[in-house]
Amino acid sequence: MTENQPRVFPPDFLWGAATSSYQIEGAAREDGRTPSIWDTFSHTPGKVLGGDNGDVAADHYHRFREDIELMSGLGLGGYRFSVSWSRVQPTGRGPAVQRGLDFYRELVDGLLERGIVPSLTLFHWDLPQELEDAGGWPARETAERFADYAALVGEALGDRVGMWSTHNEPFCAAFLGYGSGVHAPGRTEPESVLKAAHHLNLSHGLATQALRSVLPKNTQIGITFNPVVSRPYSESPADKDAARRIDALQTRIFTDPVLHGAYPADLKQDTARVSDWSFLRDGDEATIHQPLDWLGLNYYTPSVVSAAADGDPTEGADGHGSSEHSPWVGSADLVRFHLAPGERTEMGWVIDPTGLSELLLRFHREAPGLPLYITENGGAFEDKADESGLVHDPDRIAYLHGHLGAVHDAMAQGADVRGYFLWSLLDNFEWAYGYSKRFGMVHVDFETLQRTPKASARWYSEVIAAGQLPD
Ligand code: FCB
Repeated sequence: MTENQPRVFPPDFLWGAATSSYQIEGAAREDGRTPSIWDTFSHTPGKVLGGDNGDVAADHYHRFREDIELMSGLGLGGYRFSVSWSRVQPTGRGPAVQRGLDFYRELVDGLLERGIVPSLTLFHWDLPQELEDAGGWPARETAERFADYAALVGEALGDRVGMWSTHNEPFCAAFLGYGSGVHAPGRTEPESVLKAAHHLNLSHGLATQALRSVLPKNTQIGITFNPVVSRPYSESPADKDAARRIDALQTRIFTDPVLHGAYPADLKQDTARVSDWSFLRDGDEATIHQPLDWLGLNYYTPSVVSAAADGDPTEGADGHGSSEHSPWVGSADLVRFHLAPGERTEMGWVIDPTGLSELLLRFHREAPGLPLYITENGGAFEDKADESGLVHDPDRIAYLHGHLGAVHDAMAQGADVRGYFLWSLLDNFEWAYGYSKRFGMVHVDFETLQRTPKASARWYSEVIAAGQLPD
Protein backbone atom coordinates (compact mmCIF):
# COMPACT_ATOMS: atom_id res chain seq x y z
CA MET A 1 0.00 0.00 0.00
CA THR A 2 1.32 3.41 -0.86
CA GLU A 3 1.23 6.28 1.62
CA ASN A 4 -1.94 8.35 1.82
CA GLN A 5 -4.12 5.89 -0.05
CA PRO A 6 -7.49 5.76 1.73
CA ARG A 7 -7.97 2.53 3.66
CA VAL A 8 -11.29 1.39 2.28
CA PHE A 9 -13.16 -1.71 3.48
CA PRO A 10 -15.37 -3.87 1.25
CA PRO A 11 -19.00 -2.70 1.07
CA ASP A 12 -20.28 -5.92 2.69
CA PHE A 13 -17.80 -5.76 5.61
CA LEU A 14 -19.78 -6.37 8.82
CA TRP A 15 -19.24 -3.53 11.29
CA GLY A 16 -20.44 -4.59 14.69
CA ALA A 17 -20.15 -4.46 18.45
CA ALA A 18 -20.10 -7.24 21.03
CA THR A 19 -21.38 -7.91 24.55
CA SER A 20 -22.06 -10.98 26.69
CA SER A 21 -25.01 -12.03 28.81
CA TYR A 22 -23.60 -11.93 32.34
CA GLN A 23 -21.73 -8.71 31.67
CA ILE A 24 -24.77 -6.65 30.67
CA GLU A 25 -28.14 -8.32 31.28
CA GLY A 26 -28.76 -8.07 35.02
CA ALA A 27 -32.22 -9.44 35.98
CA ALA A 28 -30.34 -12.21 37.69
CA ARG A 29 -33.30 -13.69 39.51
CA GLU A 30 -36.13 -12.94 37.12
CA ASP A 31 -38.40 -15.10 34.99
CA GLY A 32 -37.04 -18.40 36.18
CA ARG A 33 -33.33 -17.70 35.72
CA THR A 34 -31.20 -19.62 38.22
CA PRO A 35 -27.64 -18.81 39.34
CA SER A 36 -24.75 -19.40 36.98
CA ILE A 37 -21.21 -19.92 38.22
CA TRP A 38 -20.65 -16.19 37.80
CA ASP A 39 -23.51 -15.35 40.17
CA THR A 40 -22.04 -17.67 42.77
CA PHE A 41 -18.48 -16.46 42.24
CA SER A 42 -19.29 -12.75 42.27
CA HIS A 43 -21.28 -13.18 45.49
CA THR A 44 -18.33 -14.88 47.15
CA PRO A 45 -16.43 -12.26 49.17
CA GLY A 46 -13.02 -11.38 47.80
CA LYS A 47 -13.48 -12.80 44.31
CA VAL A 48 -14.47 -9.64 42.41
CA LEU A 49 -12.99 -6.19 42.89
CA GLY A 50 -15.15 -3.97 45.05
CA GLY A 51 -17.56 -6.84 45.73
CA ASP A 52 -19.29 -6.06 42.42
CA ASN A 53 -21.69 -8.52 40.80
CA GLY A 54 -23.91 -8.83 37.73
CA ASP A 55 -27.28 -8.69 39.54
CA VAL A 56 -28.20 -5.49 37.70
CA ALA A 57 -25.18 -4.89 35.42
CA ALA A 58 -26.29 -2.58 32.57
CA ASP A 59 -29.89 -3.80 33.00
CA HIS A 60 -29.96 -4.76 29.35
CA TYR A 61 -32.67 -7.35 30.05
CA HIS A 62 -35.10 -4.49 30.62
CA ARG A 63 -33.47 -1.91 28.36
CA PHE A 64 -32.67 -3.96 25.27
CA ARG A 65 -35.04 -1.92 23.10
CA GLU A 66 -33.20 1.27 24.01
CA ASP A 67 -29.91 -0.52 23.30
CA ILE A 68 -31.12 -1.59 19.87
CA GLU A 69 -32.03 2.06 19.16
CA LEU A 70 -28.50 3.05 20.18
CA MET A 71 -27.00 0.49 17.82
CA SER A 72 -29.26 1.59 15.04
CA GLY A 73 -28.34 5.23 15.62
CA LEU A 74 -24.67 4.36 15.33
CA GLY A 75 -25.28 2.52 12.07
CA LEU A 76 -24.05 -0.86 13.32
CA GLY A 77 -24.37 -3.69 10.84
CA GLY A 78 -23.98 -6.51 13.37
CA TYR A 79 -24.45 -7.26 17.05
CA ARG A 80 -22.69 -10.12 18.82
CA PHE A 81 -24.36 -11.23 22.06
CA SER A 82 -24.44 -14.39 24.13
CA VAL A 83 -27.30 -16.40 25.55
CA SER A 84 -27.49 -17.00 29.29
CA TRP A 85 -27.82 -20.78 29.63
CA SER A 86 -29.40 -20.36 33.11
CA ARG A 87 -32.10 -18.15 31.62
CA VAL A 88 -33.24 -20.57 28.94
CA GLN A 89 -32.55 -23.92 30.65
CA PRO A 90 -32.18 -23.08 34.35
CA THR A 91 -30.88 -26.39 35.66
CA GLY A 92 -28.76 -27.10 32.61
CA ARG A 93 -31.05 -30.03 31.83
CA GLY A 94 -34.53 -30.69 30.54
CA PRO A 95 -37.00 -28.43 28.76
CA ALA A 96 -36.46 -24.76 28.00
CA VAL A 97 -38.12 -21.90 29.86
CA GLN A 98 -40.30 -20.16 27.31
CA ARG A 99 -39.84 -16.68 28.77
CA GLY A 100 -36.06 -17.03 28.54
CA LEU A 101 -36.23 -17.96 24.87
CA ASP A 102 -38.78 -15.18 24.24
CA PHE A 103 -36.35 -12.59 25.56
CA TYR A 104 -33.76 -13.55 22.95
CA ARG A 105 -36.43 -13.82 20.26
CA GLU A 106 -37.57 -10.27 20.98
CA LEU A 107 -33.98 -9.06 20.98
CA VAL A 108 -33.27 -10.73 17.65
CA ASP A 109 -36.50 -9.47 16.07
CA GLY A 110 -35.66 -5.93 17.18
CA LEU A 111 -32.23 -6.22 15.59
CA LEU A 112 -33.60 -7.64 12.35
CA GLU A 113 -36.19 -4.85 12.11
CA ARG A 114 -33.33 -2.36 12.05
CA GLY A 115 -31.24 -4.33 9.62
CA ILE A 116 -28.67 -5.41 12.24
CA VAL A 117 -27.27 -8.92 11.79
CA PRO A 118 -27.54 -10.93 15.03
CA SER A 119 -24.49 -13.05 15.88
CA LEU A 120 -25.36 -15.45 18.69
CA THR A 121 -22.84 -17.08 21.04
CA LEU A 122 -24.11 -20.01 23.08
CA PHE A 123 -21.52 -19.88 25.84
CA HIS A 124 -19.69 -16.89 27.23
CA TRP A 125 -18.65 -18.48 30.54
CA ASP A 126 -21.88 -18.42 32.58
CA LEU A 127 -22.38 -22.13 33.22
CA PRO A 128 -25.54 -23.01 35.21
CA GLN A 129 -24.44 -23.59 38.80
CA GLU A 130 -26.20 -26.96 38.91
CA LEU A 131 -23.91 -28.25 36.17
CA GLU A 132 -20.87 -26.98 38.06
CA ASP A 133 -22.15 -28.78 41.16
CA ALA A 134 -22.28 -31.95 39.07
CA GLY A 135 -18.60 -31.49 38.12
CA GLY A 136 -18.51 -28.54 35.71
CA TRP A 137 -16.41 -28.62 32.55
CA PRO A 138 -13.95 -31.17 33.95
CA ALA A 139 -16.90 -33.62 33.83
CA ARG A 140 -17.58 -35.17 30.44
CA GLU A 141 -21.33 -35.06 30.91
CA THR A 142 -21.27 -31.26 30.72
CA ALA A 143 -20.35 -31.56 27.02
CA GLU A 144 -23.48 -33.63 26.40
CA ARG A 145 -25.67 -31.18 28.30
CA PHE A 146 -24.23 -28.36 26.17
CA ALA A 147 -25.27 -30.13 22.97
CA ASP A 148 -28.85 -30.48 24.29
CA TYR A 149 -28.89 -26.80 25.21
CA ALA A 150 -27.56 -25.89 21.74
CA ALA A 151 -30.41 -27.85 20.14
CA LEU A 152 -33.01 -26.07 22.31
CA VAL A 153 -31.74 -22.64 21.38
CA GLY A 154 -31.25 -23.72 17.76
CA GLU A 155 -34.85 -24.88 17.47
CA ALA A 156 -36.15 -21.65 19.01
CA LEU A 157 -34.05 -19.12 17.08
CA GLY A 158 -32.75 -20.95 14.01
CA ASP A 159 -35.37 -19.37 11.79
CA ARG A 160 -34.06 -15.85 12.51
CA VAL A 161 -30.38 -16.05 13.49
CA GLY A 162 -27.96 -16.78 10.64
CA MET A 163 -24.63 -16.55 12.49
CA TRP A 164 -23.97 -18.91 15.40
CA SER A 165 -20.99 -19.51 17.64
CA THR A 166 -20.62 -22.34 20.13
CA HIS A 167 -18.02 -20.85 22.48
CA ASN A 168 -16.27 -17.65 23.39
CA GLU A 169 -12.63 -18.03 24.45
CA PRO A 170 -12.67 -21.57 25.84
CA PHE A 171 -9.12 -20.84 27.01
CA CYS A 172 -10.45 -18.48 29.71
CA ALA A 173 -13.27 -20.84 30.73
CA ALA A 174 -10.75 -23.66 31.27
CA PHE A 175 -7.55 -21.97 32.41
CA LEU A 176 -8.89 -19.02 34.42
CA GLY A 177 -11.89 -20.95 35.75
CA TYR A 178 -10.16 -24.18 36.78
CA GLY A 179 -6.44 -23.30 36.77
CA SER A 180 -5.61 -19.88 38.18
CA GLY A 181 -9.07 -19.59 39.73
CA VAL A 182 -9.35 -15.86 38.99
CA HIS A 183 -12.60 -16.52 37.11
CA ALA A 184 -15.64 -18.60 38.08
CA PRO A 185 -15.87 -21.24 39.38
CA GLY A 186 -12.51 -20.34 40.96
CA ARG A 187 -10.98 -23.79 41.11
CA THR A 188 -7.19 -24.30 41.04
CA GLU A 189 -6.66 -27.86 39.84
CA PRO A 190 -3.98 -28.47 37.21
CA GLU A 191 -5.41 -31.66 35.72
CA SER A 192 -8.96 -30.29 35.72
CA VAL A 193 -7.76 -27.55 33.36
CA LEU A 194 -6.92 -30.10 30.69
CA LYS A 195 -10.14 -32.01 31.23
CA ALA A 196 -12.14 -28.79 31.06
CA ALA A 197 -10.36 -27.76 27.85
CA HIS A 198 -11.06 -31.16 26.29
CA HIS A 199 -14.72 -31.18 27.28
CA LEU A 200 -15.16 -27.63 26.00
CA ASN A 201 -13.71 -28.82 22.68
CA LEU A 202 -15.90 -31.91 22.70
CA SER A 203 -18.95 -29.82 23.52
CA HIS A 204 -18.15 -27.62 20.53
CA GLY A 205 -18.17 -30.68 18.26
CA LEU A 206 -21.35 -32.15 19.74
CA ALA A 207 -23.14 -28.79 19.72
CA THR A 208 -22.13 -28.14 16.12
CA GLN A 209 -23.63 -31.51 15.12
CA ALA A 210 -26.77 -30.73 17.12
CA LEU A 211 -27.09 -27.29 15.53
CA ARG A 212 -26.61 -28.69 12.01
CA SER A 213 -29.49 -31.07 12.60
CA VAL A 214 -31.94 -28.31 13.61
CA LEU A 215 -30.78 -25.18 11.75
CA PRO A 216 -31.56 -24.24 8.15
CA LYS A 217 -28.89 -25.38 5.69
CA ASN A 218 -27.32 -21.99 5.00
CA THR A 219 -26.77 -21.11 8.68
CA GLN A 220 -23.19 -20.09 9.45
CA ILE A 221 -21.68 -21.89 12.44
CA GLY A 222 -18.35 -20.93 14.00
CA ILE A 223 -16.43 -20.55 17.25
CA THR A 224 -14.43 -17.74 18.85
CA PHE A 225 -10.91 -18.18 20.18
CA ASN A 226 -8.43 -15.81 21.81
CA PRO A 227 -5.21 -17.24 20.41
CA VAL A 228 -2.07 -15.97 22.07
CA VAL A 229 0.33 -13.90 19.99
CA SER A 230 3.30 -15.49 21.72
CA ARG A 231 6.55 -13.62 21.15
CA PRO A 232 9.89 -14.93 22.39
CA TYR A 233 11.79 -12.46 24.57
CA SER A 234 14.97 -13.14 22.61
CA GLU A 235 16.04 -15.26 19.68
CA SER A 236 17.59 -17.83 22.02
CA PRO A 237 16.38 -21.43 21.50
CA ALA A 238 15.21 -21.54 25.14
CA ASP A 239 13.04 -18.44 24.76
CA LYS A 240 11.65 -19.68 21.45
CA ASP A 241 10.76 -22.92 23.16
CA ALA A 242 8.95 -21.01 25.92
CA ALA A 243 6.91 -19.20 23.24
CA ARG A 244 6.11 -22.54 21.60
CA ARG A 245 4.97 -23.98 24.95
CA ILE A 246 2.57 -21.11 25.60
CA ASP A 247 1.25 -21.28 22.05
CA ALA A 248 0.46 -24.97 22.58
CA LEU A 249 -1.27 -24.33 25.93
CA GLN A 250 -3.28 -21.30 25.00
CA THR A 251 -3.92 -21.65 21.29
CA ARG A 252 -3.24 -25.03 19.72
CA ILE A 253 -4.94 -26.97 22.53
CA PHE A 254 -8.15 -25.58 21.01
CA THR A 255 -7.39 -24.72 17.41
CA ASP A 256 -5.63 -27.97 16.49
CA PRO A 257 -8.45 -30.36 17.39
CA VAL A 258 -11.16 -27.97 16.12
CA LEU A 259 -9.47 -27.08 12.82
CA HIS A 260 -7.30 -30.15 12.19
CA GLY A 261 -8.79 -33.01 14.22
CA ALA A 262 -5.87 -33.82 16.56
CA TYR A 263 -4.22 -32.48 19.70
CA PRO A 264 -0.61 -31.35 19.21
CA ALA A 265 2.02 -33.92 20.23
CA ASP A 266 4.17 -31.29 21.97
CA LEU A 267 1.23 -30.25 24.18
CA LYS A 268 0.74 -33.83 25.37
CA GLN A 269 4.46 -34.10 26.13
CA ASP A 270 4.58 -30.75 27.94
CA THR A 271 1.64 -31.70 30.15
CA ALA A 272 2.55 -35.37 30.75
CA ARG A 273 3.53 -34.81 34.34
CA VAL A 274 0.08 -33.57 35.34
CA SER A 275 -2.05 -35.84 33.20
CA ASP A 276 -1.93 -39.05 31.19
CA TRP A 277 -4.73 -37.69 28.99
CA SER A 278 -6.87 -40.76 29.67
CA PHE A 279 -9.91 -38.47 29.46
CA LEU A 280 -9.38 -38.38 25.68
CA ARG A 281 -11.44 -41.22 24.18
CA ASP A 282 -11.30 -42.83 20.77
CA GLY A 283 -13.29 -40.80 18.30
CA ASP A 284 -13.32 -37.58 20.36
CA GLU A 285 -10.95 -35.74 18.05
CA ALA A 286 -13.09 -36.63 15.05
CA THR A 287 -16.18 -35.35 16.88
CA ILE A 288 -14.45 -32.08 17.73
CA HIS A 289 -13.33 -31.64 14.12
CA GLN A 290 -16.60 -30.47 12.54
CA PRO A 291 -16.73 -28.48 9.31
CA LEU A 292 -17.05 -24.77 10.17
CA ASP A 293 -18.36 -21.77 8.26
CA TRP A 294 -16.36 -19.07 10.02
CA LEU A 295 -13.74 -18.50 12.68
CA GLY A 296 -13.90 -15.76 15.30
CA LEU A 297 -10.73 -14.25 16.75
CA ASN A 298 -10.50 -12.01 19.81
CA TYR A 299 -7.39 -9.90 20.17
CA TYR A 300 -6.25 -7.39 22.80
CA THR A 301 -2.47 -7.63 23.28
CA PRO A 302 0.52 -9.87 22.53
CA SER A 303 2.50 -11.88 25.13
CA VAL A 304 6.28 -11.79 25.51
CA VAL A 305 7.73 -14.93 27.10
CA SER A 306 11.14 -16.28 27.97
CA ALA A 307 12.49 -19.40 29.54
CA ALA A 308 12.53 -19.02 33.32
CA ALA A 309 15.67 -19.39 35.33
CA ASP A 310 15.07 -20.97 38.74
CA GLY A 311 13.17 -18.64 41.03
CA ASP A 312 12.59 -15.94 38.39
CA PRO A 313 9.40 -14.05 39.17
CA THR A 314 6.98 -13.47 36.36
CA GLU A 315 6.23 -9.84 35.56
CA GLY A 316 3.21 -10.20 33.28
CA ALA A 317 0.45 -7.70 33.96
CA ASP A 318 -2.62 -9.89 33.97
CA GLY A 319 -5.03 -11.76 31.75
CA HIS A 320 -4.46 -12.54 28.10
CA GLY A 321 -1.08 -14.17 28.47
CA SER A 322 0.51 -13.67 31.84
CA SER A 323 0.99 -14.91 35.33
CA GLU A 324 -2.71 -14.93 36.05
CA HIS A 325 -3.07 -17.85 33.69
CA SER A 326 -0.88 -20.01 35.85
CA PRO A 327 -0.60 -22.76 36.84
CA TRP A 328 0.46 -23.41 33.31
CA VAL A 329 -0.14 -27.10 33.65
CA GLY A 330 3.50 -28.00 33.87
CA SER A 331 4.88 -24.73 32.52
CA ALA A 332 4.68 -22.29 35.40
CA ASP A 333 8.24 -22.96 36.41
CA LEU A 334 9.49 -23.09 32.82
CA VAL A 335 8.11 -19.91 31.35
CA ARG A 336 8.36 -16.30 32.39
CA PHE A 337 6.07 -13.52 31.13
CA HIS A 338 7.49 -10.07 30.43
CA LEU A 339 5.99 -6.64 30.20
CA ALA A 340 6.50 -5.53 26.62
CA PRO A 341 7.50 -1.87 26.30
CA GLY A 342 4.99 0.65 25.03
CA GLU A 343 1.74 2.36 25.91
CA ARG A 344 -0.85 0.39 27.84
CA THR A 345 -4.58 0.35 28.37
CA GLU A 346 -6.17 0.55 31.81
CA MET A 347 -5.93 -3.24 31.98
CA GLY A 348 -2.14 -2.90 31.78
CA TRP A 349 -2.21 -4.53 28.35
CA VAL A 350 0.37 -3.16 25.94
CA ILE A 351 -1.11 -1.59 22.80
CA ASP A 352 0.29 -3.35 19.74
CA PRO A 353 -1.90 -3.55 16.63
CA THR A 354 0.74 -5.56 14.71
CA GLY A 355 -0.30 -8.58 16.80
CA LEU A 356 -3.75 -8.40 15.24
CA SER A 357 -2.43 -8.53 11.66
CA GLU A 358 -0.14 -11.37 12.68
CA LEU A 359 -3.04 -13.34 14.14
CA LEU A 360 -5.26 -12.86 11.10
CA LEU A 361 -2.50 -13.88 8.71
CA ARG A 362 -1.67 -16.94 10.81
CA PHE A 363 -5.22 -18.29 10.59
CA HIS A 364 -5.56 -17.23 6.99
CA ARG A 365 -2.63 -19.57 6.27
CA GLU A 366 -3.67 -22.24 8.72
CA ALA A 367 -7.31 -22.50 7.70
CA PRO A 368 -7.39 -21.44 4.07
CA GLY A 369 -10.85 -20.62 2.80
CA LEU A 370 -12.36 -20.16 6.26
CA PRO A 371 -13.85 -16.65 6.61
CA LEU A 372 -12.44 -14.78 9.60
CA TYR A 373 -14.15 -12.32 11.93
CA ILE A 374 -12.65 -10.21 14.68
CA THR A 375 -15.24 -11.04 17.31
CA GLU A 376 -13.67 -8.79 19.98
CA ASN A 377 -11.15 -5.98 20.07
CA GLY A 378 -11.11 -2.79 22.10
CA GLY A 379 -9.65 -1.11 25.13
CA ALA A 380 -10.42 -0.03 28.68
CA PHE A 381 -9.35 3.54 29.38
CA GLU A 382 -9.82 6.01 32.17
CA ASP A 383 -12.82 7.80 30.72
CA LYS A 384 -13.48 11.34 31.88
CA ALA A 385 -16.81 13.04 31.28
CA ASP A 386 -16.98 16.83 30.69
CA GLU A 387 -19.52 19.12 32.46
CA SER A 388 -22.23 18.06 30.04
CA GLY A 389 -21.58 14.37 30.73
CA LEU A 390 -19.84 13.67 27.44
CA VAL A 391 -16.87 11.32 27.50
CA HIS A 392 -13.98 12.34 25.28
CA ASP A 393 -11.90 9.20 24.82
CA PRO A 394 -9.09 9.93 22.37
CA ASP A 395 -7.12 6.92 23.68
CA ARG A 396 -9.89 4.55 22.69
CA ILE A 397 -10.23 6.21 19.29
CA ALA A 398 -6.48 5.83 18.73
CA TYR A 399 -6.65 2.19 19.83
CA LEU A 400 -9.50 1.44 17.43
CA HIS A 401 -7.90 3.38 14.61
CA GLY A 402 -4.65 1.44 15.00
CA HIS A 403 -6.33 -1.95 15.21
CA LEU A 404 -8.70 -1.35 12.31
CA GLY A 405 -5.62 -0.31 10.35
CA ALA A 406 -4.09 -3.67 11.29
CA VAL A 407 -7.19 -5.49 10.05
CA HIS A 408 -6.94 -3.57 6.80
CA ASP A 409 -3.24 -4.47 6.49
CA ALA A 410 -3.99 -8.17 6.94
CA MET A 411 -6.76 -7.97 4.34
CA ALA A 412 -4.39 -6.24 1.92
CA GLN A 413 -2.10 -9.24 2.39
CA GLY A 414 -4.89 -11.66 1.55
CA ALA A 415 -6.65 -12.49 4.84
CA ASP A 416 -10.36 -13.10 4.26
CA VAL A 417 -11.74 -10.93 7.06
CA ARG A 418 -15.50 -10.46 6.87
CA GLY A 419 -16.21 -8.29 9.89
CA TYR A 420 -15.17 -6.59 13.11
CA PHE A 421 -17.06 -6.53 16.42
CA LEU A 422 -15.85 -3.82 18.77
CA TRP A 423 -15.61 -4.79 22.46
CA SER A 424 -17.80 -3.40 23.76
CA LEU A 425 -21.08 -1.74 22.92
CA LEU A 426 -21.62 -0.74 26.58
CA ASP A 427 -19.54 -0.29 29.70
CA ASN A 428 -20.15 -3.50 31.61
CA PHE A 429 -19.18 -5.98 34.34
CA GLU A 430 -15.56 -6.76 33.52
CA TRP A 431 -15.37 -10.10 35.33
CA ALA A 432 -12.94 -10.11 38.27
CA TYR A 433 -12.48 -6.33 37.83
CA GLY A 434 -16.17 -5.64 38.34
CA TYR A 435 -17.24 -2.20 37.08
CA SER A 436 -13.79 -0.68 37.52
CA LYS A 437 -12.76 -1.16 33.87
CA ARG A 438 -14.77 0.49 31.15
CA PHE A 439 -14.57 -0.97 27.64
CA GLY A 440 -17.74 0.56 26.20
CA MET A 441 -18.07 2.98 23.33
CA VAL A 442 -21.28 3.91 25.12
CA HIS A 443 -20.89 5.16 28.69
CA VAL A 444 -23.17 3.60 31.30
CA ASP A 445 -23.86 5.41 34.54
CA PHE A 446 -24.20 2.44 36.89
CA GLU A 447 -26.31 4.50 39.32
CA THR A 448 -28.93 5.71 36.88
CA LEU A 449 -28.21 3.19 34.10
CA GLN A 450 -28.27 6.07 31.64
CA ARG A 451 -26.43 5.42 28.37
CA THR A 452 -24.37 8.15 26.71
CA PRO A 453 -22.35 7.49 23.55
CA LYS A 454 -18.69 8.45 23.98
CA ALA A 455 -16.68 10.31 21.35
CA SER A 456 -15.37 6.90 20.20
CA ALA A 457 -18.93 5.82 19.34
CA ARG A 458 -19.29 8.86 17.07
CA TRP A 459 -15.92 8.15 15.54
CA TYR A 460 -16.81 4.49 14.89
CA SER A 461 -20.15 5.50 13.47
CA GLU A 462 -18.41 7.81 11.00
CA VAL A 463 -15.99 5.05 9.98
CA ILE A 464 -18.95 2.74 9.36
CA ALA A 465 -20.77 5.36 7.30
CA ALA A 466 -17.66 6.11 5.24
CA GLY A 467 -16.59 2.47 4.95
CA GLN A 468 -13.01 3.60 5.35
CA LEU A 469 -10.55 4.80 7.94
CA PRO A 470 -9.67 8.45 8.34
CA ASP A 471 -6.02 9.33 7.63
C1 FCB B 1 -12.40 -11.08 26.73
C2 FCB B 1 -13.81 -11.51 27.09
C3 FCB B 1 -14.79 -10.37 27.21
C4 FCB B 1 -14.17 -9.15 27.85
C5 FCB B 1 -12.87 -8.80 27.20
C6 FCB B 1 -12.22 -7.57 27.76
O1 FCB B 1 -11.52 -12.03 27.23
O2 FCB B 1 -14.29 -12.43 26.13
O3 FCB B 1 -15.91 -10.85 27.90
O4 FCB B 1 -14.06 -9.34 29.21
O5 FCB B 1 -11.98 -9.87 27.30
